[in-house]
Amino acid sequence: MNNVQRNFFKFLFILGVWSFLLIGLIKINNDNIDISGASLASQSYLKKIPLHRNLLQKEKWNQLLDQTSTTLASERLMTYIDNEVLVDNRTGIDDEQLVKEVEEKLPSLPLAYWTKHKAIQAQANSKNTKQCAKYPSIYDIQFSNIYWQTLQTTNGTFQLFGAYYDIRKSSRIGPAVRILGMIDRINPTVKTYCQFWFDGQKDPIIVKTFEYKYIWFSRWGNYFNNVYQPYLIACQIPKPFHSNVPTSVSIVEKQCDTSTNNLRVIYNLPADDQKKGFAVCVKGLDFLYDDLSVKLIEWIELITLLGADKIYFYELQVHPNISKVLKHYEKEGKVHVTPLTLPGGQPNVPGLQHMYLTKKTSQKRQNELIPYNDCLYKNMYKYEFIALLDIDEVIMPKHEEDMSWHDLMVRVLEKGKKLRNTTYPSYNVRNVYFFDETQHQHEWMPGIPKYMHMLQHINRAANFTKPNQYIKCFHNPERVLTLHNHFPLACLGGPCKSFSIDTDDAQLQHYRADCVKTLKKSCEDFKEFKVKDPTILKFKDKLIARTTKTLETLNFFKKSTSFTNRDYSAITNE
Ligand SMILES: *[C@@H]1O[C@H](CO)[C@@H](O)[C@H](O)[C@H]1NC(C)=O
Ligand SMILES: *[C@@H]1O[C@H](CO)[C@@H](O)[C@H](O)[C@H]1NC(C)=O
Ligand SMILES: *[C@@H]1O[C@H](CO)[C@@H](O)[C@H](O)[C@H]1NC(C)=O
Ligand SMILES: *[C@@H]1O[C@H](CO)[C@@H](O)[C@H](O)[C@H]1NC(C)=O
Ligand SMILES: *[C@@H]1O[C@H](CO)[C@@H](O)[C@H](O)[C@H]1NC(C)=O
Repeated sequence: MNNVQRNFFKFLFILGVWSFLLIGLIKINNDNIDISGASLASQSYLKKIPLHRNLLQKEKWNQLLDQTSTTLASERLMTYIDNEVLVDNRTGIDDEQLVKEVEEKLPSLPLAYWTKHKAIQAQANSKNTKQCAKYPSIYDIQFSNIYWQTLQTTNGTFQLFGAYYDIRKSSRIGPAVRILGMIDRINPTVKTYCQFWFDGQKDPIIVKTFEYKYIWFSRWGNYFNNVYQPYLIACQIPKPFHSNVPTSVSIVEKQCDTSTNNLRVIYNLPADDQKKGFAVCVKGLDFLYDDLSVKLIEWIELITLLGADKIYFYELQVHPNISKVLKHYEKEGKVHVTPLTLPGGQPNVPGLQHMYLTKKTSQKRQNELIPYNDCLYKNMYKYEFIALLDIDEVIMPKHEEDMSWHDLMVRVLEKGKKLRNTTYPSYNVRNVYFFDETQHQHEWMPGIPKYMHMLQHINRAANFTKPNQYIKCFHNPERVLTLHNHFPLACLGGPCKSFSIDTDDAQLQHYRADCVKTLKKSCEDFKEFKVKDPTILKFKDKLIARTTKTLETLNFFKKSTSFTNRDYSAITNE
């Protein structure tokens, strides 16, 4: 047979198979599809076999038209023509868009690069060359409840959350990748290696792991093997590669192992090479049943008024109304939400997770260190300061003329410089309670809507909690290595000296029903001795206007009490 003949038979064969397939499809379809195309069964069916959708629909129409000899049938057809079918009419997603969407959902996955590396590998492949380690397939990576990747070693299991490129000036170990995760050992002794994957290279650069930095103190409890403990793992980039940023990194026990993990190395630079002022990080939200949406709106508006450039939330489980609020602000660019799960065998089922976090406070605290430090490392090159706040806490500048954190920090940095001729790793603010109730037993603040929780609560405990207790900080991301809720645990370029901001300059306003449990005794005094503290009222007009506007936008007002535009401008003077 010559080539032409061969091709002709090939063509005939394909045609045969093709017709066979088509007939089969149409036959299957006859029982399945309904004319509106809107039934679930037919929709999912079409999704599975999208190629022939048009053809199938045509077939159906023909059948229908055959039956339209009676008026009844033609009338039925007329009504169908006017109805819009509820079919997903977007054209199929292209690969590039798909990769982008998955990377958006899973920032630790070097998906785009994996695709690229496959090509590099294929190109370099002369079949028999021995290779030390292969770039792991995305499909061989062991995920643990979505956001974590696993390394099983002979002595301990690693759950890895993120990897970050660190070239901060005060980091003494030089260019490095730091990997945030949890290990079920209190003092990991297992030796591991980092495989650095660089753009365009077939083989990894392999180095011994430099350190497992514990992000906890043993005296805080939960100091056991077989319980997941937070760590920041460091691997130094070898000298010849100092000017290269690895694309991704794997941790292995034996250097030539093909890894079960591969994390994209995150290196987020500011958009225009200019650091912004303030980022706020909020640990994994666990408010599935607690609808704090209205309070949250007031808090986000106030924090934004104070000058937070962006608020980074981590989300475990939240009430649908809170979701709605977060989505709204995310669209406005004021908020970023990162979904989060607990690693290993810890529960992620809604509700059960909440019970677990409520019961197991030490586990809860240890798990919180992951979002806090992830937030630090994702944002360290983007902001001058990073604050870790809960949604019932506000760092309030006290001077009448200080209308923002920027104003406050100009003042504070000046004072700090006088004490010590460098910047501090952190600047801490003293904690004081603004309790929920009692005040209304006497009065509501006139001229302020009742839904403004903070504006309606201007009585605070007369005394602050003790220095260094329950404080919150503005962290200098160039100088902190690991963060804890209240203060840095380890710093770069010297000890973790924290500058205590004078209570005349700022205070941490903590809005709570009660003190934290550990404070039972002094709490009685806090509750008994109170003073009026109207500092927040300097933001009153703008805060009411913005909160009200957002509440209205999100349809939080009952129809009967909803504000018209005119009412609204009367309240706000804006
Ligand atoms: C898809 O449907 C929507 C509304 O039904 C319409 O606005 C849009 O133009 C359609 N898109 C395409 C590509 O047909
Ligand atoms: C396993 O690790 C634990 C703690 O990290 C250590 O105490 C123990 O000696 C290690 N066991 C072996 C066999 O290396
Ligand atoms: C502080 O340091 C700068 C340089 O870093 C120096 O010029 C200045 O004189 C120092 N000031 C004091 C009071 O030591
Ligand atoms: C505030 O604290 C100081 C020192 O601890 C104490 O002497 C004082 O009585 C407290 N004041 C109030 C109003 O609780
Ligand atoms: C908040 O949740 C409740 C209960 O699910 C619902 O009735 C209400 O409409 C929600 N509010 C908004 C603004 O969506």
